[in-house]
Amino acid sequence: MEIVLSGIRSTGHLHLGNYYGALRNYIKMQDNFNCFFFIADLHSLTTHPHPDDFHAGVRTILAEYLASGLDPQKSAIFVQSDVPEILELYILLNMISYKGELERTTSFKDKIRQQPDNVNAGLLTYPVLMASDILIHRANLVPVGKDQEQHLEMARVLARRFNTFYNSEVFPEPKAFNFGDDLVKVPGLDGSGKMGKSEGNGVYLCDDEKSIRKKVMKAVTDAGPTEHNSEMPEPVANLFTLLKIVSDQSTVEEFTNSYNNCTIRYGDLKKQLAEDICKQTLPIKARIEEIYKDEEYLRKVVKRGTDLARESAQATLKEVRKAVGFRSFLSSDD
Ligand code: TYM
Repeated sequence: MEIVLSGIRSTGHLHLGNYYGALRNYIKMQDNFNCFFFIADLHSLTTHPHPDDFHAGVRTILAEYLASGLDPQKSAIFVQSDVPEILELYILLNMISYKGELERTTSFKDKIRQQPDNVNAGLLTYPVLMASDILIHRANLVPVGKDQEQHLEMARVLARRFNTFYNSEVFPEPKAFNFGDDLVKVPGLDGSGKMGKSEGNGVYLCDDEKSIRKKVMKAVTDAGPTEHNSEMPEPVANLFTLLKIVSDQSTVEEFTNSYNNCTIRYGDLKKQLAEDICKQTLPIKARIEEIYKDEEYLRKVVKRGTDLARESAQATLKEVRKAVGFRSFLSSDD
């Protein structure tokens, strides 16, 4: 059975980008693959969360995973920092990752612009840690959104490079995965770019009906089309992208037609969009709080997931250490 792995950083709450770009695929994959899903708490440290908030961040994502339908009986659900094997692989992969290629990563260049006072080494080697997350389970498929495509390419490069460097076949090349053909980019409601946690343009799985409606009704549009079949400006195209993601095909066709013949009323489009978002997210919201509070349940879920993840990680690390040439004085089976 093919191995699937993916994760989300523990910063804030999950939004529609996380859900439709990643989490919904996790849920669909659970029945047919050997799945590992985790919370990337170490990755979240690049932005220095306050120690008082750090654990709550992890717990939030865990509760939102489970409320969305991740099933701990089907998938191994764990927290990155509970699996130290990842970090050993991270050190080893760092030795075959080069400064130049890491500096050229788009996400690194973006971060330099966004946080010029905190360009730490963790940001530079972020893709190496991510490759370690993936390769430690020898994953074949990695469900992610479009923004992670370059990181996935780095994981593929490192898998190949390790195998060649150490003349081994330890790692398969992992592939980015989406149930459609292309990876998804969920746009924000502010007219341009993607929905993101730090962009302040998101609809969250934990939002209530009123705030979802308010956010959608405030979304940027324009004065409306004046010529038949005219090209959509980006903010309007973004609303249609969201509509295609959350609504059924006939709704999308209806509004596309009314755009093309210039009869569209953006207010109606937004009302429909808000309603269809609510239909998808409110049942999830209703479960989040209760799960978040259930300490005993969360502990059980993570215990089972961590045991599975460590077993898989240890098996890989054994192969890795052999390939690199470690021979321990301390154990007889090496
Ligand atoms: P993160 O936490 O930024 O995002 C988690 C997942 O959500 C997807 N995503 C989106 N997809 C479509 N449209 C959007 N607007 C949007 N915003 C976010 C992301 O593509 C991602 O799949 N580095 C990763 C976390 C990570 C990881 C891994 C992922 C660490 N190790 C190993 C996969 C495998 C990250 O920061 O994702």
